[in-house]
Amino acid sequence: MVVSEGKTAPAWPTNEELDAVRKKVALMSQKSTGEVNVVACPYRICPLGAHIDHQGGVVTAMTIKYGILLGFVPSESGQILLQSGQFEGELKFNSKDSQKPIENPEDINWESYTRGAVYALQTSGYDLQKGIIGFVSGVEGLDSSGLSSSAAVGIAYLLALEYANNIIIPPLDNIYLDKLIENSYLGLENGILDQSAILLSRSGYLTFMDCKTKEPFYTRFAEQNKSLHINGEFGFKILLAFSGIRHNLPKKRGYNTRVAECKAAAHALLSVKGYENSEALLCNVDPSTYEAHKGKLDENLAKRAEHYFSETKRVAKGRDAWARGNLEDFGQLISESGRSSIDKYECGGKEMIQLYEILLKAPGVYGARFSGAGFRGCCLAFVAADHADEAAEFVRTEYEKEQPELVSHIPHDKRVLVCEPDGSARIIFPGI
Ligand code: GLA
Repeated sequence: MVVSEGKTAPAWPTNEELDAVRKKVALMSQKSTGEVNVVACPYRICPLGAHIDHQGGVVTAMTIKYGILLGFVPSESGQILLQSGQFEGELKFNSKDSQKPIENPEDINWESYTRGAVYALQTSGYDLQKGIIGFVSGVEGLDSSGLSSSAAVGIAYLLALEYANNIIIPPLDNIYLDKLIENSYLGLENGILDQSAILLSRSGYLTFMDCKTKEPFYTRFAEQNKSLHINGEFGFKILLAFSGIRHNLPKKRGYNTRVAECKAAAHALLSVKGYENSEALLCNVDPSTYEAHKGKLDENLAKRAEHYFSETKRVAKGRDAWARGNLEDFGQLISESGRSSIDKYECGGKEMIQLYEILLKAPGVYGARFSGAGFRGCCLAFVAADHADEAAEFVRTEYEKEQPELVSHIPHDKRVLVCEPDGSARIIFPGI
């Protein structure tokens, strides 16, 4: 896929991108390009609500105009035959072959997400008589970068398999099917932020997901503030700056360790009130109990709990700032969230912190933070639209000074991207 550097992103996916994927599938399946459907699953960002989804908190989400494309045709025999634009080899199995969860995270590779999708559907009682012949392609260099490419891939396979088998599943149920891929099949104890963003986003709105009640809600951006719209477009852009550090999240223990620490903090606080049998999640702890008893927590657990409760407040304030179209306030909260991820959640490495600090100094930037879990990948910033290119150039130059070796491995056109919000995952049928 082609990425435009430092410029307004073209509509996504472009006709060229769709044609390329359709041609590959036509060749693999001996069908015509006019028979190939394409699932478009955008990548996501999380402006506020970092690391509180797995604790039942309220998170915010948005997608961007880059993502995963999966071209496919159904296969009557149940054959699953796939090739990838980024990974070597061909994947072949049958949709009726029973799938078992991965035991060793080191065994995870691009096949795992396809098998995981089949596993999720099989264990949820769906009969997969048909398979898919398909070609999957992400944006070169953006996998394992904190944009949730793994959830985007998992959802793409789910939507294609469901379509092939004539199974109709509402988005909220697909969130749980993809969660099965991540939690049960791959062993990552994450929450539902990524899936909610990809399946529920609407352009122009900030999506909120209450991960305790599982209820999404939306807040429209600054409807009343016309000065924030330039030529009918939003007055802001999203900047993504890549650290050059990439790894597959389930392969690293850090994420699950932090989840366990949050649960331990929740258990300790619930026990103080005699609720030790309640589910050990921080959303089940009353904020007044936290305030009264936080001093009893071990140092690390106290930091994780502080991140949770302060982030929860930032999400609430962020909703108000977004609705008012006040990007200064919204951005300030994003940067505070970034600081809390560094100091309290302690999930950022040295390079990610450098990038975060450079973004904060870039012209026109309202606020910045780690894009995903923070252990690797990229940082995001909200930036004034008319300063976006200048800010991108500033970050590109400054980060290269700090990390010349790492930067030398990132293709020049992928170091900093200027992006716009997108909608939700969809299937694009031939002729559209
Ligand atoms: C990863 C996880 C999400 C969420 C974020 C951090 O993307 O998959 O569930 O916890 O990190 O906010």
